[in-house]
Amino acid sequence: MCGIIGYVGPLGAVGIVLSGLQRMEYRGYDSAGLAMLDSADGALKRVRVSGKIPDLQRAVEQELPEPVAGRCHIGIGHTRWATHGAPTVSNAHPHLSRNGRIAIVHNGIIENYLPLKQRLIGKGYRFESETDSEVLAHLIEECYDGDLHRAVAMALEMVEGTYGIAVVSSQHPDVIVAARKGSPIALGVGNGENIVASDVSAIVNYTTRVIYLDDEDIATITPAGVQISSLKNVPVNRELRHVDWQPGELEKGGFEHFMLKEIHEQPEALANAIRGRLLEKDGTTRLSGVQMEPADYARVSRIIIAACGTSYFAGMVGKYHFESLADLPTEVEQAAEFRYRNPIIERDSCLLAVSQSGETADTIEAVREARRKGANVLGICNVVGSTIARETGRGVYLHAGPEISVASTKAFSCQVVVLAMLAIAFGRARRMSAGVGRDLVAGLARVPQLAEAVLRQTDHIRQVAEKYADAEHCFYLGRGYMYPVALEGALKLKEISYIHAEGYHAAELKHGPIALLDETVPVVAVVPDVHGRSKTVNNMQECRARKSPVIAIATEGDDEVDQFADDIIRVPPCPDFLAPVPVVVAEQLLAYYIARKRGCPIDQPRNLAKSVTVE
Ligand code: M6R
Repeated sequence: MCGIIGYVGPLGAVGIVLSGLQRMEYRGYDSAGLAMLDSADGALKRVRVSGKIPDLQRAVEQELPEPVAGRCHIGIGHTRWATHGAPTVSNAHPHLSRNGRIAIVHNGIIENYLPLKQRLIGKGYRFESETDSEVLAHLIEECYDGDLHRAVAMALEMVEGTYGIAVVSSQHPDVIVAARKGSPIALGVGNGENIVASDVSAIVNYTTRVIYLDDEDIATITPAGVQISSLKNVPVNRELRHVDWQPGELEKGGFEHFMLKEIHEQPEALANAIRGRLLEKDGTTRLSGVQMEPADYARVSRIIIAACGTSYFAGMVGKYHFESLADLPTEVEQAAEFRYRNPIIERDSCLLAVSQSGETADTIEAVREARRKGANVLGICNVVGSTIARETGRGVYLHAGPEISVASTKAFSCQVVVLAMLAIAFGRARRMSAGVGRDLVAGLARVPQLAEAVLRQTDHIRQVAEKYADAEHCFYLGRGYMYPVALEGALKLKEISYIHAEGYHAAELKHGPIALLDETVPVVAVVPDVHGRSKTVNNMQECRARKSPVIAIATEGDDEVDQFADDIIRVPPCPDFLAPVPVVVAEQLLAYYIARKRGCPIDQPRNLAKSVTVE
């Protein structure tokens, strides 16, 4: 989704802003721009393009050639993912106020922009874009009386909706004002220089000391420091945190794409997810971040999991974990629906908000609704210090490391494992015996090896993938634990290869979709040796009978499936609750190599954003 970066300090702001924008490219965007303050003439200089960062770089070289660029020590930049108005130059940020002295970049949606725009037009303001964001630039100018911080606060008091915003003004040559409500803003604290960004990945190259703004915080950022207050101008203190991401983690490390790197990182990510959390002797797990004693676990009578996209499918796997390992009734909710229904949340319900980024707008709102209804809420996030992690204050980090590729991979397998660890903690506080707990924990200790075993077959999976790269439609079938894994496999294929892929419960095939099968529609049968396998093997035969080519994902040594499959990808044997991990690694590689063969832009698929921070 959109990205914000701003720099103020002694160095050249142009290079820092451009490299920050480059680091946020993974979020997905379709236009970009920056505004710099030229210290020679004290004017704001703006460059915008409809296109990608290399296009912006070329435009900057032409429009801000040396020595101009070298004279800019304060500036802001933006990558825009179009919502209101097409991805054109005039809709790209930054937007300038009428007098050209104020430039703003904005993430989020101003819901009441139309009446505000009408009012401003009535006062003689001219709009050059179709965006909701441009109203902010004019509102700030309208409120300005010499105090930029106050003008931004006053303007924000007038808007309804969400914002992460950074503002510079030619009248304040060493000040950036930033604010947030519902759209993340982090401040990178340096020595004699400071950075503001919507994503810490744009900051960690310069400093690992970060302050996250809370909703309705507004910050004045100068080279000397940052001051934060509420919109009502009451000073607030926000914790200075250390981000443990290393700059190297944000590079491709010799892989062709971030997605491939992240698929291959899974053994290590899984090892980090379980490290220090398995109590083998006691047959349970220790997840200190949830801050719950066995008696607290025992009191919970129902689990609700809220999430979107891949995290939602991981949540569906979690349902199987909680029901089969902890005997706990569990519902999985699409976070976008949650707050618009009247979700029944009883006193002993525990809501798990599952989100890689911790910034997904719908999941954040589900957390808020559950808290309003008095639920016990835990965050299952990857990004440390993200909004969900901070607002829940309790939960489990995945420790998967930064996930840059828009298509989520290692987050899914770590979510599956973290939800299993949580289910074991709940189960042991309820009816699970120590012996059963010890077997489960011993299984978990081997989970990195399960991912490794599939990665060793990368060459074979690539060959299978290349055979099917011309397909236009594809089905993924599974049941039990493999049902959500089939859904995830189909999502991965459609988002990066643009092949129309449907995940179905294998039993549902006969209730309609079988009408679509023929020799042009491959079926991926997700049939490792887990409960329900033999029934899905029967469904493979039904697909074969309709001439669909069948690709089976099956357990090593399960030769029975060979006769019903055109191609087979083998996964190692493992307990049912862990099978989603090796199977999803196989699906990720299959999708990756199909997309690669089709020449797709794998890390940044069209129309997609890494983190969906608007409804
Ligand atoms: O950051 P989150 O886990 O909350 O993101 C949820 C979805 O937006 C995300 O999983 C999305 O579906 C990915 N593109 C899937 O690969």
